[in-house]
Amino acid sequence: MSPIKVGLLGLGVVGGGTWKVLTRNAEEIARRAGRRIEVAAVAVRDTGKARRLVGNDVLVTQDGMDVVRHPDIDIVVELIGGDTLARELIMEAISQGKHVVTANKALLAMHGNEIFAAAHAKGVMVAFEAAVAGGIPIIKAIREGLTANRIQWLAGIINGTTNFILSEMRTRGLPFHEVLAEAQRLGYAETDPTFDIEGVDAAHKLTLLASLAFGIPVQFGKAHIEGISSLAPEDIAHAERLGYRIKLLGITRRRDDGIELRVHPTLVPMECLLANVEGAMNAVLVHGDVVGATLYYGQGAGEQPTASAVVADLVDVTRLQAADPEHRVPHLAFQPDAMDDIAILPI
Ligand code: NDP
Ligand code: HSE
Repeated sequence: MSPIKVGLLGLGVVGGGTWKVLTRNAEEIARRAGRRIEVAAVAVRDTGKARRLVGNDVLVTQDGMDVVRHPDIDIVVELIGGDTLARELIMEAISQGKHVVTANKALLAMHGNEIFAAAHAKGVMVAFEAAVAGGIPIIKAIREGLTANRIQWLAGIINGTTNFILSEMRTRGLPFHEVLAEAQRLGYAETDPTFDIEGVDAAHKLTLLASLAFGIPVQFGKAHIEGISSLAPEDIAHAERLGYRIKLLGITRRRDDGIELRVHPTLVPMECLLANVEGAMNAVLVHGDVVGATLYYGQGAGEQPTASAVVADLVDVTRLQAADPEHRVPHLAFQPDAMDDIAILPI
């Protein structure tokens, strides 16, 4: 069978990692997908740097629309970030009938309702495993593994940068800004790191998880959000003396009168598993009425873990693209007929 052709928008930390994984594990990936997955075009700002990575057989352009509209491209992978150009490119890809894979939680949290509705109308898939918790397959776990359950609540560490900062401040006594700079160097932080440290990135991800868990539209604007920028080393030390670790948690819970959606620093008893999640690791606890509590743990940010999730989505989309569109509906974050406004409760 001929290879499925992919257009990569962005070849930075995640895009570069995706290219490397697709190249390094090409045989295994082809076996699992049933076809070879081939990157045919990339869009970047610095074409020289990209050319050195991908060689001469791949179209390299500064105009993402060249990639999206290229007749050979079957799947568009958006790894540019932000919510302006990325949104235009994804909407155009959908209107061209192309499947989309993205790691862009900010975009989906702000414009997911529009994007998923357009994808549903066009019968294409929008896959976003990499948008939440890096390499942990949390989207698949909730959407597929826990599908028999009525999910009651979930809570987790879903931002690697802030968990790295809190861990390094506590264990090595390093100052906040020094650790943040290290997180940026390691490729964990967002382009605008205030999204990380003010809890916005975690809230973007929590919004998507709540949407999946409860079958509701994406409602980022209603989340309660507090970050870690006002925490001092003494706060961390005091918490430790009292038997707690401070963790930035995202928490969402179903109640009779609506849904809670909140991100804030939380005192977690030291004996709890979440208290012992260190560095850029993430962990998410999900409670379903049938299964009880389940826990998902792994690297939450960085090149290779995030690329692992992007490639998993590529394999999934490659497998499913031949199926009847009705069977692809689980790839949407919510059922399109569940668009009624559901109360998001203040805390
Ligand atoms: P980077 O800044 O490392 O990469 C961005 C890429 O987009 C670069 O290749 C850049 O080109 C390209 N780009 C930027 N603007 C344009 C433009 N106008 N036209 C064409 N190309 C452009 O970001 P990341 O890889 O870290 O993040 C990408 C996405 O993945 C974001 O949505 C982020 O939130 C998400 N994400 C990131 C994770 C991480 O750990 N880093 C984890 C999970 C999700 P050039 O190389 O020439 O500068
Ligand atoms: N900036 C994000 C984090 C990247 O630190 O978790 C992974 O989504």
